Amino acid sequence: MSNETNRRDFLGYTFAAVAAVGGAASLVGMKQVWDPLPSVLASGFTNVELNGLKAGEPITVMWRGKPIFVLKKTADMEKSDRDLIIGEDRYTVAIGLCTHLGCIPAWKKTQWKCACHGGEFDASGKQTFGPPPRPLDLPPFAVQGSQLVLGEEGPEYKKIAAAMATA
Ligand code: FES
Repeated sequence: MSNETNRRDFLGYTFAAVAAVGGAASLVGMKQVWDPLPSVLASGFTNVELNGLKAGEPITVMWRGKPIFVLKKTADMEKSDRDLIIGEDRYTVAIGLCTHLGCIPAWKKTQWKCACHGGEFDASGKQTFGPPPRPLDLPPFAVQGSQLVLGEEGPEYKKIAAAMATA
């Protein structure tokens, strides 16, 4: 075999190796481009297990960067058209941002109180005092068994949203 042939083979192998490394690097680059951003991943669905919630003690979960209040109502809390009813239990599901200027109200025994300007919301999320112009907003959700799926518009959500729109 001549030196010329060996040299050609060597160049061919070198080219193939460089092309393979380049191809692998572009695949890594493409994967980074195609992968959803963390913000997009966070904007999906959030499941909330309702079993085990204690009546009268709301929890706060984060969904799409917003606090969501989920309260299992006690028997003596006033019933509302916006109650999510599952079996014997009634729940309030609300976006935990004050409808005045967006502060996060805190739960105080039987109601949410907003420290910013004194707004108050009852256990159903309805504004009862101060400057908030409307009840706490309703996040889209669906019910799957004992779970709340935030981010999906299920029939229960649509029913409550319709009731709130006519209230
Ligand atoms: S932001 Fe809540 S009362 Fe003003």
